Amino acid sequence: MYDFHKSVVYQCYFKSFYDSNGDGVGDLRGVTAKLDYLQKLGVDYIWLNPFFPSPQRDNGYDVADYCAVDPRFGTMADFEELSREAEKRGIRLMLDMVFNHTSTEHEWFQKALAGDPDYEDYYIWREGGPDGTPPNNWESKFGGNAWQYVPEKGNWYLHLFDPTQADLNWENPRVRKELQNVIRFWMGKGVKGFRFDVVNLISKGSYESDDQGDGRRFYTDGPRVHEFLHELNEATFGTDAEIITVGEMSSTSMENCYKYAGADTGELSMVFSFHHLKVDFVGNEKWVLVPFDFQKLKNILFSWQTGMSDHNAWNAVFWCNHDQPRVVSRFGDEGEYWKPSAKMLGTVIHCLRGTPYVYQGEEIGMTNPGFTSLDQYRDVESINHFHILRDRGLHEDSAYDILRVHSRDNSRTPMQWDASEGGGFSEAEPWISMNPNHKTINAASQVDDPDSIFAHYRKLIALRKQYDVIANGDFAPLDMAHPSVLAYTRRTDREDLVVINNFYRKEADWTCPVDLDGFTCLLSNYADSRAETKLHLRPYESLVLYRAN
Ligand code: GLC
Repeated sequence: MYDFHKSVVYQCYFKSFYDSNGDGVGDLRGVTAKLDYLQKLGVDYIWLNPFFPSPQRDNGYDVADYCAVDPRFGTMADFEELSREAEKRGIRLMLDMVFNHTSTEHEWFQKALAGDPDYEDYYIWREGGPDGTPPNNWESKFGGNAWQYVPEKGNWYLHLFDPTQADLNWENPRVRKELQNVIRFWMGKGVKGFRFDVVNLISKGSYESDDQGDGRRFYTDGPRVHEFLHELNEATFGTDAEIITVGEMSSTSMENCYKYAGADTGELSMVFSFHHLKVDFVGNEKWVLVPFDFQKLKNILFSWQTGMSDHNAWNAVFWCNHDQPRVVSRFGDEGEYWKPSAKMLGTVIHCLRGTPYVYQGEEIGMTNPGFTSLDQYRDVESINHFHILRDRGLHEDSAYDILRVHSRDNSRTPMQWDASEGGGFSEAEPWISMNPNHKTINAASQVDDPDSIFAHYRKLIALRKQYDVIANGDFAPLDMAHPSVLAYTRRTDREDLVVINNFYRKEADWTCPVDLDGFTCLLSNYADSRAETKLHLRPYESLVLYRAN
């Protein structure tokens, strides 16, 4: 059985990682070229975003063929080389399986369009209203109605995302068999990890209009989702104890996650949930500007820690991915306290109970790029919502302010390797602009600096392997009500850990409720932090205190 409690996964949005062939777009050989860097960081797995043939309407999450490599990103031989070279360095690959929908350019959808009845039933078709209205009022996650009319068929198909991403009909057993074959294909290539994209949306309940919202309550954690995951597990990855899996769970509930990621439920190894990242939304609405709610952040993060633990289920823990803005810009400080705040945020995540995920560039403290014009944006969701905000009457400047904070493109700018003109990402014009601050924030200036953010992440990753209490200890919150300190304990019979973080630039006095006799300071972001009961915490100060019993 692979011990994923001790592992750390590095997410490689390879399109923006490293361009090996000078076309401005990152590629698989680019990942291979940087494996030594990842080995130095110490990660166990690389999650690769989808590299399959795709029209790239949603950056590869619109898959046209699940068992091939898009020529823009390389060849199957490049993939195999990457896999071999990674293995030599003790790193495994995790592939991204986008099974809720396919691109409308996928052969299955094309056959459905051509009227092949076998393939029509691969997708979800419904009749609209007599007056040309869609089948119901569900909204696409990318804006607009979730149904697309096809005049030749006189019928509508469901797309919870872009109109070019048609939802698959999991009720059809043939669809489920096809998807099992995809997993087997990649298992045959030695792949030991799978991430399942928005996998809690695959089982649709009833197709009613939603008089209370956008329709998500009818298809989120739907009626057959556990059965479908169980079946997929048994038929494919469940036969290999070395394989780890993670499900991306959109607007999920904790009760469902106990099953998705239970140690004995036969579904997945772990789950991504997003409630802790909606603390700068208003309800489910992200296209607004409000300060983040710290108390809510703690409550959510900590209740998932205790809830999942009480039910013997496992979290993936993270701040960042290709859909989230940069965490230093979001919860930390881009200015004077850039370094201590980035380190503090890393510490919060890496000492939790769960498998930590590092998103490329997080380990060097990359920030949001601050784009100022629409032509700098590439993301379909951001561009759609810019227009939606403008249509609602919002001033252009305010719409830009919102995009600068919430756009998914904030995390998709090229990896900042060095201070050179192209930031060491590419010789050519990159497909999306590089953040100009690569002159100061870059990997080259950090890899050998013992005080860098990179060095801090490296230590965090190593500590999880060294100390069982970090990988497997029980979790308990400390001083929940404190307005600026986020603190918790981890505990096994043999070890104790106390993790204390000042989440703000304002100094804070804090008295530790745990008796710190015998504790030492294992890690901090200030040179002289000490294990003391009465602490005067400096801006973003973060301490990891340890005692062996
Ligand atoms: C997931 C992906 C996101 C994509 C969406 C639709 O949320 O992370 O990038 O747009 O699913 O596939």
